[in-house]
Amino acid sequence: MKGETMEVLEAIKTRRSIRKYKTTPVDDKTIEVVLEAARWAPSWKNSQCRRLIVVRDNKVKNQLADVLIGDPTKGLPNRADNAIRTAPVVIVACAELGKSGYNLGKPATDKGDYWYMFDVALAMQNLTLAAHSLGLGTVHVGNFDAKQVAGILEVPAGFCVVSMTPLGYPDEEPEVRPRKELSEIVFYDKYGSR
Ligand SMILES: Cc1cc2nc3c(=O)[nH]c(=O)nc-3n(C[C@H](O)[C@H](O)[C@H](O)COP(=O)(O)O)c2cc1C
Repeated sequence: MKGETMEVLEAIKTRRSIRKYKTTPVDDKTIEVVLEAARWAPSWKNSQCRRLIVVRDNKVKNQLADVLIGDPTKGLPNRADNAIRTAPVVIVACAELGKSGYNLGKPATDKGDYWYMFDVALAMQNLTLAAHSLGLGTVHVGNFDAKQVAGILEVPAGFCVVSMTPLGYPDEEPEVRPRKELSEIVFYDKYGSR
């Protein structure tokens, strides 16, 4: 048990966003392991609104990359553009609307419908950590036109696209991105109280 906990913490701390991939294919069994990790994520009332689309068709991957949004201030494409085009697999996370955050068909909290974002994020973070533990790379990608992605993937009404990630063997070892210190983000008993 202790060993398992350490592995999770190590995976959390050593995962990096990977934007350059080898062409080495990812076998179906391995893809299934990471999908399983997503399947076991918790969700609002266990409503499991997430749906995952495994994209392996290069034509579809290019269509997805074409609707990524870049950085308009710098005139640059999305940093994940090439990764979405060239990784052997892209996993697109969708959500069924009207389930997460609902009680008896009505939004239960003042956050309305947005709990589906939370549920999908939990599933996708499980997936990225599981992938990393297997030597695979990922990067959460959120900056794209979700309606256009839904059209490309024929996502039905009542569902929306939340995020996507390339999945494949890393061809880079990115530097660690800095994190705020705990003293900057943690308070005790009252907001602002350190
Ligand atoms: C919600 C969300 C959306 C993101 N969208 C993009 C994106 O569109 N393109 C991209 O290249 N990276 C994207 N990222 C990756 C972040 O830039 C990255 O996680 C952050 O810089 C920290 O780096 P690390 O993952 O290596 O620790 C996104 C991350 C999150 C959590």
